[in-house]
Amino acid sequence: MSVLLGLGKFLMSTNSTRFTPTCSNNPARLHPLRFPGTNKCTNTGSPPSPKIPIFELVKRPFVTIPLFTNILSLDMKALVLTQKDAPLHYGDVPMPEAAEGEVLVQLHAAALNRRDWWITQGQYPGIVYPIILGSDGAGVADGREVIINPAFNWGDHPAFPSKSFQILGLPHPGTFAEWVSVPARQLYDKPAHLSMEQAAALPLAGLTAYRAVFTKGQLRAGDRVLVTGAGGGVALLAFQLAVAAGAQVWVTSGSDANIERTREMGGQGGANYREAEWSKQLQQQAGGFDLIIDSAAGDGFALLPKICNPGARIVTYGGTLGAVSGLSLQPVFWKQLSILGTTMGNDQEFSEMVQFVTQHRIVPVVDSVFPLSAGQAAFERIGKGGQFGKVVCSQLAG
Ligand SMILES: NC(=O)c1ccc[n+]([C@@H]2O[C@H](COP(=O)([O-])OP(=O)(O)OC[C@H]3O[C@@H](n4cnc5c(N)ncnc54)[C@H](OP(=O)(O)O)[C@@H]3O)[C@@H](O)[C@H]2O)c1
Repeated sequence: MSVLLGLGKFLMSTNSTRFTPTCSNNPARLHPLRFPGTNKCTNTGSPPSPKIPIFELVKRPFVTIPLFTNILSLDMKALVLTQKDAPLHYGDVPMPEAAEGEVLVQLHAAALNRRDWWITQGQYPGIVYPIILGSDGAGVADGREVIINPAFNWGDHPAFPSKSFQILGLPHPGTFAEWVSVPARQLYDKPAHLSMEQAAALPLAGLTAYRAVFTKGQLRAGDRVLVTGAGGGVALLAFQLAVAAGAQVWVTSGSDANIERTREMGGQGGANYREAEWSKQLQQQAGGFDLIIDSAAGDGFALLPKICNPGARIVTYGGTLGAVSGLSLQPVFWKQLSILGTTMGNDQEFSEMVQFVTQHRIVPVVDSVFPLSAGQAAFERIGKGGQFGKVVCSQLAG
């Protein structure tokens, strides 16, 4: 009986014009979303709602009873950015449809990145409204537990991405939703030792950190490494990768507690960048560094070449504090230093990163988990700073 009811509702819904695809690299197909005021924001925990023909549900062996009941609704819950500086709106949006070559992923968890926060502040190129943000996700696709590589269309050159390179979550609708449709080639098996929340914390930060530490940083076992801003999502993964690879790793942080926590995770210690003499303290502790991984930039960057060993590499992947002033190039050329920029990574690096994390049983640090319905609070956590590791939203919690 419920099957017939579901079928009737489904057939009626397919006549509606409300549901059009929301996932595509083609901007013309983006976001026919309904927004604040047109839908009540409810958090009923109602199950997501795949637009799958009923006969397909019946014949697919992995389909479970809860999924079967989802046919009663063709909307899903998502967190949507409607304009700059506006609180994120949690509510109903149309289900995505899988374009050719795409697969629908039922998301269990999605992690925040500083990128998402920059976008909410209007500080990112190419922002479109409304947009479902979110580059990091873990979930289930066709019965397989997966994580999503958020680096789309890297292209053929390993050294730099193609012109069509994109990061999931702008303009392609992202992972702060119950479902996302992504190209099938972006899916990788979720490392079995990770929970969904831990796995969601891995993709963007893990990829960026892997390329920074190994491809660009050319880390060797025994190297003395400095990772700045240890509480950051990418920084902490860079720290974990370097420790697992046999390096001696120091950190900076604005929190003594963060430094202590990295010591418990195999680190050598570090210095608080809020103290005037932080770079001297580091030099006393380590002697000098063979590799520095930095995303802070700002004035502190000018001190980094001075605490490098000859032949060292400084890898930069971010500019949290803005422009660098007072940088003297004397130590750069006298010590034969390399300053290298990096962003995200290519498909092979993503694959190697997942393999490395699996082999060394690395567990990304999750600072906190918020129900997706409380996504605004998750963004406020990032905005306030002081986190240790990744802030994650759970589609299954609350
Ligand atoms: N190029 C890429 O592919 C790429 C990828 C990801 C991120 N990024 C960029 O990299 C930066 C970090 O991203 P994220 O997602 O890891 O951010 P995040 O998790 O929000 O971490 C930012 C961290 O910056 C640290 N920090 C703040 N002030 C600092 C200072 N004066 N000196 C040193 N560290 C300081 C803090 O560490 P403590 O709390 O320990 O003090 C904080 O945890 C952002 O600018 C982001 O846009 C770039």
